[in-house]
Amino acid sequence: MKGLILAGGAGSRLYPLTQVASKQLQPVYDKPMVYYPLTVLIASGIREICLISTPQDLPRFQQLLGDGSQWGVVIEYREQPRPEGIAQAFVIAASFIGQDAVTLILGDNIFFGGDAFPRAFAEFKSGATIFAYHVKDPERYGVVEFDAEGHAVSLEEKPAQPRSNYAVPGVYLYDNDVVGISRALQPSARGELEITDVNKEYLRRGTLRVQRLSRGTAWLDAGTSSSLHEASAYVQTIEKRQGMKLGCPEEAALYRGFLTLEQFEALVGRMPRCEYRDYLTDVAAEVRRVGLIGA
Ligand code: G1P
Repeated sequence: MKGLILAGGAGSRLYPLTQVASKQLQPVYDKPMVYYPLTVLIASGIREICLISTPQDLPRFQQLLGDGSQWGVVIEYREQPRPEGIAQAFVIAASFIGQDAVTLILGDNIFFGGDAFPRAFAEFKSGATIFAYHVKDPERYGVVEFDAEGHAVSLEEKPAQPRSNYAVPGVYLYDNDVVGISRALQPSARGELEITDVNKEYLRRGTLRVQRLSRGTAWLDAGTSSSLHEASAYVQTIEKRQGMKLGCPEEAALYRGFLTLEQFEALVGRMPRCEYRDYLTDVAAEVRRVGLIGA
């Protein structure tokens, strides 16, 4: 399974913050936003990752994330010249995907808690797996409707009259058919290749699985100044209470076995003196003492 992170878009709702750095580079409390989806991929065992962004922003992501070897993964980069939709990611990254299955995570989707993703990745065989999350404002998202048996029966992108409160968050797992399906899509009224149209095609074929995320999972949006602030406040609250950080790719790579403890310690040793380094130093000490029980 390969992984795509889509970090495109103009970020206009965050203007003027996004004048010089894209939305997915903005801080969510103590780290750049893109660290959170990246950590979801690493924690789910994905080692080959491709980040897609605009021509202007791509060099900054490369500067931040490098080739991924520091975390025991490989990160490639591709440009999305214009914001022509989420599903275009599969066309842009076709050579990276090759013959494999692929997961896509949106660079501004922030998740905490639960083990739904690692489990879904481990169990994935074919077709598509997407998720559903109960929200108050489904009209802002892709919306999935279920029948009485819990089977998905319809999908709509930002419907004015949502048929349920279940929004589709920005993590999608697909078999290799997704490349051909995306290539055959027609742009929507807003001029984009819609991810919801990809999911509708899998629904039509009878190979779409929709897994409901439990209320123990938090899915946060960071697309406006106030939701960005709330996401930061949430991360700070959890981190302060637990003494454990969220969205830390180094830690996920250690727990996942992508880095040995020695490699992890060497990586931490190269960081400047800061709170982030202190935290990871404590993680290393704890793993030395008791093994990987926090993983
Ligand atoms: C996109 C998708 C939508 C999905 C959402 C998740 O919306 O089109 O189906 O629910 O991401 O964040 P957009 O980012 O275009 O508002």
